[in-house]
Amino acid sequence: MTKTYKLAVIPGDGIGKEVIDAGMKVLLHMEKQSKGAFVFESDYFDWGSDYYLKHGRMIPESGVDQLINYDAIYFGAVGDRRVPDHVSLWGLRIAICQGLDQWANIRPVEFLPGIPHRLVHPNPESLNWILVRENSEGEYSGIGGRNFSARPDEREVAIQSSVFTEYGCERIIRFAFELARTRTRKKVTSVTKSNAQQYGMVLWDEVFTRVSKDYPDIETDQWLVDAMAARFVLHPEDLDVVVASNLFADILSDLGSALAGSLGIASSANLQVDKRFPSMFESVHGSAPDIAGQGIANPIGTIASAGLLLDDLGLHDEAAKLNQAIRQTTSEGVVTRDIGGTYTTEEVTNSIIKNLST
Ligand code: IPM
Ligand code: MN
Repeated sequence: MTKTYKLAVIPGDGIGKEVIDAGMKVLLHMEKQSKGAFVFESDYFDWGSDYYLKHGRMIPESGVDQLINYDAIYFGAVGDRRVPDHVSLWGLRIAICQGLDQWANIRPVEFLPGIPHRLVHPNPESLNWILVRENSEGEYSGIGGRNFSARPDEREVAIQSSVFTEYGCERIIRFAFELARTRTRKKVTSVTKSNAQQYGMVLWDEVFTRVSKDYPDIETDQWLVDAMAARFVLHPEDLDVVVASNLFADILSDLGSALAGSLGIASSANLQVDKRFPSMFESVHGSAPDIAGQGIANPIGTIASAGLLLDDLGLHDEAAKLNQAIRQTTSEGVVTRDIGGTYTTEEVTNSIIKNLST
């Protein structure tokens, strides 16, 4: 019997359209290869900054509700010079992540063969760590406001509060431990800044200590975020699962993917771990308006995110095959400009498809 997976596809802004085209081409090729085992039924949503300029919102009022009955959401990128960044981000990506309670964002850091990386390390391909980002609260809670703008002499005041709940900390920390159990290294490193953030992040630390007692088989470690940034560069071999707050993991994921060679290769999954709603899969990079429309964007981050999507649908063999095909392509040197290559988005995509067949 053919299994049908319903995909909500949101290309978004800038290079989002190009990299989503690439990812969908790969997924449809895999559908064909499955010989009727599974098919994707995809609906495209034209949400993003163009939509905003026409309708005054990034997604329709019922937007989040429209996504509920899909098996997965495949997302390109958001960001456009004509729309303030905080409007486009809160109106689209964050509206979906928080609206569908996709509370765990995983971001693997992998050193692919053939890609020049930025670490001084004897065997970078042996490195493999994964960031677990708290994706529902923390510094992205959106609590605060601006006031006193009518006062003279630029005396406006802005308050931006972080929210750390014991519930939110516990579920993401437990998720990190469960994830570590599935990995060879079996280690969780928690990242905070609890020396300076003495309320929310001390609560996080306390929850980490409490939850870790349920996982005596997992090694633990705790670092402040500044020291962790240095550790990414100096001792990456110490890292396995790294769990951090919304903002800290956001920053560390750019550092991790830059060290691995390019933001263009980093994949990410916003998981609704409890499966109450669909999860959303997207690359870590932004909409790169400077190169949009030229056909030179690196499709690997978005194609690798399709791998995370396949995994989430239970298609584990297909996900592993796709990762292998990506590695084969990078080791053949078929890469885009951001990593020193000369190939186009389409050529890299076709090479991955070719390597899926061998
Ligand atoms: C990311 C991005 C987003 C974030 C922006 C676009 C809101 O930087 O996914 O890493 O900060 O979450
Ligand atoms: Mn980011």
